[in-house]
Amino acid sequence: MSNTFNRRNFLAASGAAMGAIMLNPLSTLSGKEPEKVPSNKKLRLAMVGTGHRGAGMFGEKVTKGYSDYVTFVGLCDPNPGRLEYAKKRMGIECPVYTDFDKMMTETKPDTLIVTTVDGFHHQYIVRGMELGANIISEKPMTIDEQKCQAIIDAEQRTGKKVTVSFNYRYSPHRRVIWEQLRKGAIGKITSVDFHWYLDTRHGADYFRRWHRRREFSGSLWLHKASHHFDLLNWWIDSDPVEVFAYANLDFYGKNGAFRAENCRTCAHTQECNFYMDISKSKYYMDLYVANEKYDGYLRDGCVFKEDIDIFDKMGAGIKYANGVQVSYSLTGYSPYEGYRIAFNGAEGRIDAWIQESNPTYLGEYDEIMISHNFGKREFIRVPQSEGHGGGDTLLLNSLFIPGTKDPYRQSAGARDGALSILVGTAARISCDTGNPIKIGALTSIKPQAQKM
Ligand SMILES: NC(=O)c1ccc[n+]([C@@H]2O[C@H](COP(=O)([O-])OP(=O)(O)OC[C@H]3O[C@@H](n4cnc5c(N)ncnc54)[C@H](O)[C@@H]3O)[C@@H](O)[C@H]2O)c1
Repeated sequence: MSNTFNRRNFLAASGAAMGAIMLNPLSTLSGKEPEKVPSNKKLRLAMVGTGHRGAGMFGEKVTKGYSDYVTFVGLCDPNPGRLEYAKKRMGIECPVYTDFDKMMTETKPDTLIVTTVDGFHHQYIVRGMELGANIISEKPMTIDEQKCQAIIDAEQRTGKKVTVSFNYRYSPHRRVIWEQLRKGAIGKITSVDFHWYLDTRHGADYFRRWHRRREFSGSLWLHKASHHFDLLNWWIDSDPVEVFAYANLDFYGKNGAFRAENCRTCAHTQECNFYMDISKSKYYMDLYVANEKYDGYLRDGCVFKEDIDIFDKMGAGIKYANGVQVSYSLTGYSPYEGYRIAFNGAEGRIDAWIQESNPTYLGEYDEIMISHNFGKREFIRVPQSEGHGGGDTLLLNSLFIPGTKDPYRQSAGARDGALSILVGTAARISCDTGNPIKIGALTSIKPQAQKM
């Protein structure tokens, strides 16, 4: 649905809209130009996991945009081909390692960036802190409650700090929602309806790759939904206490009529809607196909493989310590990608919707509708921005530009990382056991009504 199309329909249907306010949130966040840091004072960075996210967002973007403040001292990945690819793409000369401890002891980084496969994050987060570094971890911080506890314990034991790179918090549209909630636009929040749709392109991609196995991704309850659970925790400004969930695999995996190991070896390319000709992407050929010889990892895996043990249809009820109730769902095979969210409050309701991936439908702005009980309705328009809704760049600013302020509490630590993954973990356990799961029983973290 285009914003224009949607809004026109909505106006016709309601006849009640007030004037819309146009915001330019990026301009309010950039602040004044920060001073350069002398070479010997630059933050010394190392990275483990030099794949798509590592080499791109935390590699090339950081070396191109933030080299006045940071310098890479080491890169590590078990795949030597991807290591060399990343080094070249980042245009740097630092040493590369397949041995993590060796990298840490030889290069002594201030900060370790963890951009490996989700199921291995905890190993590097814990060991990285033991070897003297602060950590920036991609989401999900980890994929289950034991690994989560190990990270919490290691942070306390070593005195080092984990930051979780929740880029979704930094998108201006979501930040404006946060501001409206904090200023009491709908009074006390009572419940939230949050529904996320992954499409048959990007959504299907999770079923091709390592994400399709719980041991690597924790399922989409962790890999994808931990983003959404973090947003909820941040927006609601309270900790989750209990989760009840259902889920199933209805579309991908064993549900397919035919299958192969991967698209290049498939006999059904003519009839399969999910056929992906990886040779058409030079990027994928260089990053993945050229390096298959080292680890056998297939980027164009079949979405109907029978080893897929994650879900593609998920629904959960979440109770918060401040009494808010959430209805959440995630669908993995929608014709378009995006989400709808509504916050119900004692004095009104906020509705917001985003369509993310089908460019045909993208407009110039995203809208937030605030309806006041017995009163007027307002629309706020937030200009659209590139890179996860504008979140990626603002996140990098906050991570790497010294002195960047955090007025919207977007910077997330280990406790935030933990509480997002604990909702996903509880949902997964609830699906497996049929029971509601208490968050406070999973780790040493005790949920608080008001965020700490
Ligand atoms: N925040 C976001 O929007 C966003 C977007 C994409 C990915 N991510 C996160 O980034 C991380 C990497 O995802 P990606 O898309 O780059 O995946 P990827 O498959 O492209 O890269 C993963 C890298 O990890 C390496 N690896 C595999 N096993 C390892 C091990 N045991 N130890 C160390 N490294 C190992 C692989 O060789 C590969 O280079 C994931 O945690 C993912 O959730 C976040």
